[in-house]
Amino acid sequence: MYEHLIEKFIRTYGGSEDDIRIFESPGRVNLIGEHIDYNGGYVLPAALSMKTTVLARKRHDKFIRMLATDLDYVIQAEMDRLEYFKDYKWGNYQLGVAWQMQQFGYKLSGCEMIFEDKVPLGSGLSSSAAIEVATAIALTALNDLEIPMTELAIIGQKAEHNYVGVNCGIMDQFASAMGKKDNAIMLDCKTLEYRYIPLQSKEYKIVIGNTRKKRSLGESAYNQRRNECEQALMDIRTVIPGIEWLCDLTPKQLDKNINVIRDETCRKRAVHVVYENNRVLKSADVLTSGDLDEFGKLMIESHESLRDLYEVSCRELDIMVEAALEQKGVLGSRMTGAGFGGCTVSFVKESEIESFMKNVGKIYTEKTGITPEFYVSEISNGGREIT
Ligand code: GLA
Repeated sequence: MYEHLIEKFIRTYGGSEDDIRIFESPGRVNLIGEHIDYNGGYVLPAALSMKTTVLARKRHDKFIRMLATDLDYVIQAEMDRLEYFKDYKWGNYQLGVAWQMQQFGYKLSGCEMIFEDKVPLGSGLSSSAAIEVATAIALTALNDLEIPMTELAIIGQKAEHNYVGVNCGIMDQFASAMGKKDNAIMLDCKTLEYRYIPLQSKEYKIVIGNTRKKRSLGESAYNQRRNECEQALMDIRTVIPGIEWLCDLTPKQLDKNINVIRDETCRKRAVHVVYENNRVLKSADVLTSGDLDEFGKLMIESHESLRDLYEVSCRELDIMVEAALEQKGVLGSRMTGAGFGGCTVSFVKESEIESFMKNVGKIYTEKTGITPEFYVSEISNGGREIT
């Protein structure tokens, strides 16, 4: 399974296969709880079988050399002056992780690495978190460190904030690090407490639809949403002093105080956040009791709220969700991830999956001119070393 990568590794860096180690970490799909992680609430992601694989070998100097199988050139940086390499177009997630680990006080020596990314890039399935967590696991092992997986997730997130410059929440890295086969993760983003919820259904499967519309304006709009939530929270604090996060509000409390949020846009953002958080809590209950019908309804509400209140959907996502909901055997469908393009997630009866993909694909292509991709996703374990 890894032969082609081992061969490439030796062709690139020389040596033998004896000291090459193999690591992997997956992408994720978020079942519900969108734009909640940075508002101190609950999310419900699951790790995918699509992943980033890293082959790595320790060097006894300070040089870090990396290659991506789809780019085919080696970049080089120095462990002790990584701040000078921030401009690399490819490689900055990996270097960011190495930089962040050192900021946390871990000593790293150089290394050689090859990356194979099987999570579609820019599709809302957290290809960047997969790279970050895989890198963090590899650097931990190569340097004989012992760092808990949850801390590796935090290192990945901080690398994105401080090195790459994206102000993301913790959900993606956490899901990539902590995923569990056939389970979703109910994560409290305020405390990082979590529990696994078995996805029990044999009859229904998770189908991911890739609109293949690359996220446009994603980063600036993402940071703008964060600011709007912050502003809503500041207004709420004038009547509930000391409240720490928007998600500390119940829907009832928000309704009662909605008029203290001065700006109309910020009001809409807050309504999405507080009600979406509540939907995650309900989802955990209904999924635990196996009530997938009810979960499907919550997914539909979630999409409508992201479309109308949080305004992070787009034409392509809406068309795909709408087409999905017209099909037989579909319990629910919604956009997943940050939005502005990327993927949808649907719960589809197994016997209907073939016709689902055919019909949704046809409608979507007719309306957008784009050929979508579908993945019947397996829910997998989080990142690890392959031994
Ligand atoms: C991106 C971010 C996450 C999260 C989602 C939206 O994937 O990286 O932290 O905020 O968007 O739910």
